[in-house]
This record gives sequence, structure tokens and C-alpha cells, in this order.
Amino acid sequence: MLSTHFNQFFRKKTSFLLILVGSVFSAYAKEGMWLPPTLQQREADLKENGLQIPVSKLYNADGSGLNHAVVLFGKGCTGEVISNKGLVLTNHHCGYGTVQGLSSKDKDYFANGFFALNNKDEVPCPGLTVTFIRKMENVSDLVLFDIADTLSESKRDSIISNRIKGLEKGYRYTTKMDASIKPFFNGNQYWVIISETFQDIRLVGFPPNGIGVFGGDTDNWMWPRHTGDFSMFRIYAGKNNKPAPFALKNKPYETKNFFTINTGGYKEGDFTMVYGFPGTTQEYISSYQLNQVYSIVDPIRISVRTKKLAVWTKHMNDDRDVFLKYTSKRAGVANGWKKWQGEVRGLQLNNVVNKKIEFEKEFQAKTMGNSQLPWASDVLSHLAANTSRADSALKADVYIQEAILGVEMIAQATLLDKILQVMRSKISVEKLHDSLDKLTQNSASFFKNFDLKTDQETFEILLPIYFKSVGRWVPPTLQKSYQQYKKNISAWANDLYHTSLLRSEEKLRQFASTAKAKDTMILLADPALQFYQTVSQYRKSELSPIINRYNNALAYYNRLYMKAQMVFNPQKMFYPDANLTLRLAYGKVEGMDPDGPSGYSFQTTLDEAIAKNNPDVEEFRVPQKLKELFAKKDYGRWNVGGTVPLAFIASNHTSGGNSGSPVLNAKGELIGTNFDRVWEGTMSDYYFDPKLCRNISLDIRYTLFIIEKFGGAGWLLKEMKLVK
Ligand code: ARG
Ligand code: GLU
Repeated sequence: MLSTHFNQFFRKKTSFLLILVGSVFSAYAKEGMWLPPTLQQREADLKENGLQIPVSKLYNADGSGLNHAVVLFGKGCTGEVISNKGLVLTNHHCGYGTVQGLSSKDKDYFANGFFALNNKDEVPCPGLTVTFIRKMENVSDLVLFDIADTLSESKRDSIISNRIKGLEKGYRYTTKMDASIKPFFNGNQYWVIISETFQDIRLVGFPPNGIGVFGGDTDNWMWPRHTGDFSMFRIYAGKNNKPAPFALKNKPYETKNFFTINTGGYKEGDFTMVYGFPGTTQEYISSYQLNQVYSIVDPIRISVRTKKLAVWTKHMNDDRDVFLKYTSKRAGVANGWKKWQGEVRGLQLNNVVNKKIEFEKEFQAKTMGNSQLPWASDVLSHLAANTSRADSALKADVYIQEAILGVEMIAQATLLDKILQVMRSKISVEKLHDSLDKLTQNSASFFKNFDLKTDQETFEILLPIYFKSVGRWVPPTLQKSYQQYKKNISAWANDLYHTSLLRSEEKLRQFASTAKAKDTMILLADPALQFYQTVSQYRKSELSPIINRYNNALAYYNRLYMKAQMVFNPQKMFYPDANLTLRLAYGKVEGMDPDGPSGYSFQTTLDEAIAKNNPDVEEFRVPQKLKELFAKKDYGRWNVGGTVPLAFIASNHTSGGNSGSPVLNAKGELIGTNFDRVWEGTMSDYYFDPKLCRNISLDIRYTLFIIEKFGGAGWLLKEMKLVK
């Protein structure tokens, strides 16, 4: 509520400015996430748009390119090196899971934040890694030689995987680094990626949640935004500055390759680049497949999660204990839920399915009777047939994923299934208890964040949706139970939640510690396990065969379709769909005009964040110290016009995985850190609309202000290279 009110307020305030400048700049937005080694071919366009450094500075394999300052952070985010001592900047939400593991009641980093005051303070983060991309090379000719386009996918795969194994081995041997070969353009190209992964990573700085997730789920995916979404880590290296497992004697990683930070700001229209690891996009799929996402998959996920979130939220509001248990899980469920709504809306407003249909008509006209790729004119009809054949099985499967496995009790029954396997494995009693102990210990984190009542109500709300929606695609045993309970889901839930071993950690442990191999009967009678097994067997026997066949057909026909699109549009330069490999996107700092005459400005400030302060709502609670800095206008060198710039939007083509990516100016200097996209443009994973698609970045000046003035960690700024 509150934030909606403020969003409107800010929109009105800034619309005038946008009318003045909007028309000048709105044509510059840029689609594309480019493989760094191919940027040479885009040099003219990059220069024309504003790039002021040689393209060879952006990427090269000789050790001096900016690629050596960008890292894959953990397994799904991006980070950037900002000092010659291995200091890494990324998002708060990218460090969140790691910091949860480091926090305790006495060291509550979420409530109080954490800023190291010297190297000794820096906290080791077990399990966290960062990966540098040293070199990428097109090896398509080596992987694909003598393979006909139309060779079946299975034959092709077995030839290719052998070649890849051999090549990777060779690359590892010659480079002494990791090498992995990945498909691009749906398997029409292969690239080798030479990388180095560091394993000793330590926490350096983490603002409290009142800054780092300010605005929370309410503002997530939204602009205007006031989230100080950053955290800082340091890479430690072993002997010879090389990757090594954690050791006290490891030293901060030394490098010449780090980003210079430009604190001089930017104006609307300025050239920007985002360098990072976008995860998944599907820009080239057919109208048939897109329509499946748009009219089946997304709507099911949205509607089921709407109900589930309502139940969770109610229980979280009623009981602080439940709130603490579910807040992080809720963020995950809501993140996708909100994004997909933006996606469906964007696809609809832009008529994207129809645009694809128009494109396909042209494609048919070009390929029909053309001997260059004799198979091309049949590809779309095969895609159409395969897609519609899979519709109902796919729909049933998405309902299972969301409405059945979305119930924690049922999903968690995989644990009982594992226990059952162990008990059936005929091992000695000691070994049995050993394994069961381990399994139940691992479940501690599940029970820590599990509330039986909340989950039971989730079951009661979601199950009717499932039965109502999937028609004949219900496992017969489940249908029988449904009838036996006379469709009374509450009665069913009551039985299940009062008898399953999963109803409490204690019950489960009790069972595990005394179980004998012959006690499998107890498990086999467990209603949660029965439920889970019925559903997974049904998936395996009825749904997976159809879905696997469909996926194989898609792999085959989408590869051909991609190839034909490229062959029949020789004048267009294609960028490959995102696959968590290193990419560069470029665009401009620019506001947007989401749905009418009023627009969104391109920038937010600290004053606006303070105006959103609401002590009653956790998401909008500004930390005391920040309020004091604001009251005294104690901004030091970060004062710009009486406030501190906080975030900005730009038209760079990004996706999930780009979180934490460096946002660069025309000289390749760091001006911000990417952390989100605007909701109206989340359909850019399928279709990039320059009017609506914007990435959201944290202004580097806000980051530095928080580190220096709020965190009192000015020593870190001394190791950075700041220019104006
Ligand atoms: N929407 C962003 C992303 O996709 C940020 C998510 C984290 N923030 C949150 N409030 N849940 O990752
Ligand atoms: N927050 C997203 C991430 O974690 C980035 C936003 C997006 O999807 O563009 O990668």
C-alpha cells in the first residue's frame, strides 16, 4: 500500500522532466547480450553508441581485458573486482544465503550489518566460490565437423559428447585451468570456456536489511527503487596467487585487473554497459512454445502461488514465529510470482505471440522451396504439432510442481523415500543408524523453518485447485483417496498431518534412532510418503515419457529453427540466448514511460528512501544510524545537490544471474551494480521492448557512502581507485 502511494508520488514529480528529455533518448535502448570475443564485430555500433575505449580492452585473453575483473559469484550471480587486493562487490541478495550461515543471535548481520575494519576481521565463507573467465574460444568446427544438421539428436549427442570430453581434457592440460565446452544457439555453436575458480572467499561488508533489502518484496521488481542492494567479499589466494582451499595463511588475491570507480555521476542518455552472467533467455522460440509459456505455464504458477502466498502471509502476520520461519522462503516464492505477472502483462501488451506469428509467416515464405536448407520449411509445422501434443501433460506436470510439491509436507517426503531406500539396502544395524542419523540431521534446517499449521492449510487450499484443474490427469490412487474422503480435503489433511512422521522433528528422529530394517511397514504406511510416491510414480510412468519426448523434439527442431533463422537473415547479427556464460550488454541511462503520459525518472535518491521510512513495517524500516546521517546531512564527499544519488535505470538487456553485475560508463569505469529489472519489462527474457525494458542499478556513490559513513569502513575506499 504505502509503496504504491509513493510510487505514484514520484512518478508525478518526475514526469515533467521526462517529457523534456524522453523523446530525445528513447530510441537508443539496445537489445542483446553479447559474447565478449564477438564484440569486435560490433565495434562500429559500440562506438556509435558511445564507447570510448578500444573493444580489445573489454575482452582479451592476454590477461589485460576487463573480463578478468568480472566473476561468476557463487552459482548464479555476478560480482566485480574493485581493488588490486581482490575486493569483490556484488548484491546483498547474492550474499544473503552465505551470510545466513554466518549469522547467529549474537552476530545478527541482518539486523546490524557487518563491516570489517581490517583484513583480520574478514569472515571465511565455507562453500562460496568465485570464478574468473580467462578465455572463450569458438570450437564449433572441432565439435561439429562432418555432422549433418538433420542427424537425430541422440546420435548427434553421443558423437558430440565424446568429442567434447577429449577437447576439454586437452584444454585443461595446456592451460592448467578449468575448461568446459558449452552449446550456444541451441547447439549450432560450441564454445570452450577457460576459467579459474577461487575457493577461499571472505565476507568484508554487508549492510543491514534496512538498507540491503529496503523495500523488500513490496518493491521487488519495481521502479522507483531505494534498495542498497550490495555486499562485499574478498578473494584469498594460495601459493603463487593461485586458487587454494581455505587456509589462514592465504593472502588477498593480487591483480592488475580491477574496475576503476567513477564517482562523477552520469546523465540521462549516457552510454552504459553491463558485464555479467545472465542465466536463461528464450528469444528465438516459436509462437507455439511462447504461447505455452504465456497461456499455460505462467498462469498456473501465478494463480497457485497467489493462493499459497495468501495462506503464508496470513499465518506470518498472525504469528511472529511463523514470520521468521517463512520470510526467506516467501521471498523466493514471491520473486518468481511477481516476475511472471510482469512477464505475462508485457507479452500481452506487446502482442508478442502475434508478432512471432507474423515473423513465422515471413520465415515460411523465405524458406518454402528454397534449396539452401531443404528441411527449413517443415520445421515450424513440427514445432506446432509437438507443442500441442504436449500441452495437457505439461499442464498436469506444472500443477504437480506448484500445487502438490508446493506443499512442504509432500515435497519433504522425499526424505522418507530416502530413508526407505536405506532400510531396504540390507546393511548392518550400525550402518543403518549411521545413515539414518545423517539423513535426519540434514532435515534439521527444514524443521527449523517449518510450521505444521501453515502447511496444513496450504494443503487444504492447494489440493482442491489441483483436482479441479487437471481433468483426467490424476493418478488413480490419488483419485481413489479423494473419493474415499468424499472430496473432503480438510478431513484428508487432518489425517495426514496427524499421522505422518514428518509432523515433527522429534517423531522423525525417534523413528530413525530406533528403526530396525524390518520397520519399513511403518514407513510404507506413512500418508505423506504414500502421497509423494503416488505422484512421483505417476509422473514417471505417465507424464515424463511425454514430456521427455517433447523436450527431445524441441531440442532437435529448435536447433534447426535457430539455424534457419540465422541462415535466412544473413544481414542480422544474432546474440545467443543466455546460458550463465559471460556476456556484455549495452544501452543508455534512461527513464521510461510505462503506460501513459507520466513516466519514471531515471534516478532515485536517499531523500526518497527516508520519505518511505515506516517503523511499523519491517520492509520499510530505515536504520537509526542512516536516519541520523540524513538528519545531519552528514554525507561527506557523497553529497550531490543536498542528497545522495541511490539507484538508476538504464536500457541494458539483462536477466536473472546479472545480479551484482558491474554497470560501466563509456570508459569502462564502474558507476553502479546491477540488481533488478523493472516489472513492466520482465518479458525481456522472451522479447526485448526498448520502451519498457530497463535494468535497475545501485549507484556506486550510494554504496561508497554506506561503506564510509554508515559502516565506518573508510579503509576500504583507500584500496579502490576512485576517479571523477
Ligand atoms: N528481483 C531480484 C532478482 O530477481 C531481487 C530478488 C531479491 N529481493 C527480494 N526482495 N526478494 O533476483
Ligand atoms: N535480481 C535478479 C538476479 O538475481 C536480476 C534481475 C533480473 O532478473 O534481471 O539475478
